[in-house]
Amino acid sequence: MHVLVTGGTGHIGSYVIPELIAAGHEVTGLARSDESAAAVSALGAKVRRGDVSELDGLKAAAAESDGVIHLAHRQDLLLSGGIDAVAAAEVQIMLAYGEALAGTGKPLVAAGSMGSPGWENLGRPATEEDPALPGGDKYKGTLRVRNVVEIAVVGLADRGVRSSIVRIPPIAHSDTDKAGFLPLLIGLAKEKGAIGYPGDGANLWPAVHCRDLASLFRLALEKGPAGKSWHGIEGEGIRFREIAEAIGSRLGLPAVSIPADVLMLPGYFGFLANLVTLDLPASNLITRQTLGWRPAQPSLLTDLHNGHYFPAG
Ligand SMILES: NC(=O)c1ccc[n+]([C@@H]2O[C@H](COP(=O)([O-])OP(=O)(O)OC[C@H]3O[C@@H](n4cnc5c(N)ncnc54)[C@H](OP(=O)(O)O)[C@@H]3O)[C@@H](O)[C@H]2O)c1
Repeated sequence: MHVLVTGGTGHIGSYVIPELIAAGHEVTGLARSDESAAAVSALGAKVRRGDVSELDGLKAAAAESDGVIHLAHRQDLLLSGGIDAVAAAEVQIMLAYGEALAGTGKPLVAAGSMGSPGWENLGRPATEEDPALPGGDKYKGTLRVRNVVEIAVVGLADRGVRSSIVRIPPIAHSDTDKAGFLPLLIGLAKEKGAIGYPGDGANLWPAVHCRDLASLFRLALEKGPAGKSWHGIEGEGIRFREIAEAIGSRLGLPAVSIPADVLMLPGYFGFLANLVTLDLPASNLITRQTLGWRPAQPSLLTDLHNGHYFPAG
């Protein structure tokens, strides 16, 4: 299959492109700069110059492909227009793909996020069939954007696109993770001399290794039915306290509980306070059963113990 990949130079995309090529696909990576073009090329893909904000070019690139994996994200709009501007731009991108691919049955697989308003009250792990909801103003920003985009992507199934979403957990780990949530937590722990966790730290965070995530994007592209959401998670979730303790033990720092009433005050977690309290128990059963996906890479705690997140010096 000739696959168009956007965001191929990013943390996750740099695993997706080699995964596709190893499976025999021909990959074209969208690149908006010379630097990105060189990175896409170094991964073994053909380069198509363009920016996801240029919708005509994006439509042409999608129409010339046999399928699309969308990992780019209009984060650049965050400062100027806030999260709603990001959401609006991302939905326009999905609708552009829809125009290019309508009636073809070609696959479009886009990045989504684990978590939706209401999931916290389910009383059971969230499944792939639990819908993404747009969420109100109170809901945590990034997830709100993702849910709006997810609804747009899944809706393209009604227009003859084999569209699906891979819901990605807050932690996508790998030995090339430089800007994800783990490096942020590790940096914060070093700065504060301790690693905090909220309350009793029993809240569950799902995670996944980027190589496993890459194989899930490939499987969804190759054989995923239309209009579905997949859970790219290695298990039902890891207690936040265990993550904090694993980081603390590598750094030789204590893991400490931050009481709920202190958590939201300016202090330890800062802008991360909303995120660290997330409790997202979730299941990947439907994903494994339908696509035959088998996470095979080191788990989050194993990856932390492997040490590459803690280079000497
Ligand atoms: N835990 C997680 O990491 C997580 C969780 C949920 C969802 N996601 C989503 O999964 C996707 C991939 O995540 P990631 O961590 O791999 O992202 P990343 O490392 O930040 O990479 C972002 C990619 O998007 C490209 N990009 C950004 N703006 C673009 C534009 N205007 N035109 C063309 N390309 C553009 C960047 O290209 P350049 O090389 O040109 O900068 C880069 O390749 C993102 O949509 C992210 O929001 C991630």
